[in-house]
Amino acid sequence: MMRQHSDKLAHSIGIGETSVAEIAIGKYIKNNYGIALAEHQQATLVCAIKKICNKFNYPDASALYLDMVDNVVTTQVMELLIDEITVGETYFFRDSKQMALLRNKLLPELIQNKQQQQNKTLRIWSAGCSSGDELYSVAIILRELIADISEWNIHLVGTDINLVLIQQALAGKYSHHALRKVDNTIASRYFSRSGDSYQLTSEIMQMAKFSYLNLIDDYYPSFINEINNIDLILCRNVFIYFSEPTIRDVLNKITQCLTESGVLMLGASDYWGENISGLEKLVADDVCYFQRGVLTLNDIIEAINPDKKKYTANTTHSVTGNRLNAEGEQEIISEVTNEDAQIKLDKSDKLIQVFEQQHSKDSINAIVEASQQLATAGKVDEAIASCKKALEIDEMDINCNYLYGQLLAEKNLTEEAVSVFKKIVYLAPKMPEAHYYLGVLSFRNGNKDRAIKHMMNTVTLAKQKASDAQVLNESNMTYSRLAEIVEHEITIYSEIR
Ligand SMILES: C[S@@+](CC[C@H](N)C(=O)[O-])C[C@H]1O[C@@H](n2cnc3c(N)ncnc32)[C@H](O)[C@@H]1O
Repeated sequence: MMRQHSDKLAHSIGIGETSVAEIAIGKYIKNNYGIALAEHQQATLVCAIKKICNKFNYPDASALYLDMVDNVVTTQVMELLIDEITVGETYFFRDSKQMALLRNKLLPELIQNKQQQQNKTLRIWSAGCSSGDELYSVAIILRELIADISEWNIHLVGTDINLVLIQQALAGKYSHHALRKVDNTIASRYFSRSGDSYQLTSEIMQMAKFSYLNLIDDYYPSFINEINNIDLILCRNVFIYFSEPTIRDVLNKITQCLTESGVLMLGASDYWGENISGLEKLVADDVCYFQRGVLTLNDIIEAINPDKKKYTANTTHSVTGNRLNAEGEQEIISEVTNEDAQIKLDKSDKLIQVFEQQHSKDSINAIVEASQQLATAGKVDEAIASCKKALEIDEMDINCNYLYGQLLAEKNLTEEAVSVFKKIVYLAPKMPEAHYYLGVLSFRNGNKDRAIKHMMNTVTLAKQKASDAQVLNESNMTYSRLAEIVEHEITIYSEIR
């Protein structure tokens, strides 16, 4: 009866077969996930709702909607629904003008700057990577541009919410249609034909990593997702699903992931003309892109912990020494003064020098925090050096070992990182984060079975923690979200055995 009424209402307001419950689900998705579906996408939504109802035994869309408003719908249901309505249309070398700008200007300049800084590291993120075509296009351009590529530490990471698409990316198998903009020389150099499909060479596939990340719900910059200190972010043709406030939120988080002078490229039709806070809009060869300026200590603190109180502009963060706190214990204090206008990162170096003199637990914590600031600002070598100094004070310190392991993993020093995380598991066997890294690193080493075992341990241990407790060094990730993310990773890894 209710359903008949809904359908009548839907017809009366001119929306064909869409029921009131389906419309309400569309609104719920918009309000809670920021995904605003256009009118022509209603049919996709209706189809997706039907699929979900069949799979999860909901009698109809109204029952599904009631679970949503009662807050009892599972994450699994919602993520599958989102998967269904977000379409992953993509292809190699999509948008020839943008690709030409990357090949002829942005990537050569980035490579040259890194060479001048004697830092042969490149970190590139395809956010909303779909089946990987975009990220692999960048990998091919880099392979063509860099003669001594084996001497570089190249970190290319693609993330998406659609697990099926990530699995396709990891398989590296594409249709002729996906290669329609690839020129013949490149196609024959980097793909081998097998029947109707084209297999990407292992050389290019090995350059890229793919993982699950929901741009709206998840928190980044993030060490654990390897989304930090990024030189170039491509987030193209993803915002079509998002409402404007959601786009602003996502852009704000994306900006925090860029390193100093890092570049963001959106899809040609994703930009609606507003300024993006913290980024300068630039145009070259008819293509618009955005660049981050010099990082201040505020930027770095906000990236590490967005909830931490900000230092006000035109102030300097300086260490002024020790004092006794209310309980009569020694406390290291830092003070905000108005002396200098510009806050610069070398403050972190100074903090470390001061704290090194004091062989106490507090001083280790302070060094770890300062090292984290250095790492967030892209000074990974300096951060590693200061972690080593803190470990000389206490080689068993878990937080310091953990950050040290994360930094070694970031530098692709896999063997060294594995031994640090093994040491942590020995010292703190129930630490989910350490098992997670052992999983990621085992996968990197090609040992998928071991990777899955560590990932399963991570899920079990994360579920034993208070669900709202925070993951170490992740500003806003809870253990329950970590468990969900790792369950997705297990699905992805299991499929590509
Ligand atoms: C049209 S494809 C774009 C692929 C590629 N960037 C390109 O331009 O060719 C959009 C991708 O964004 C992904 N996506 C949609 N919403 C997302 C979200 N909240 N978090 C992460 N990815 C999302 C979809 O799954 C889809 O793969």
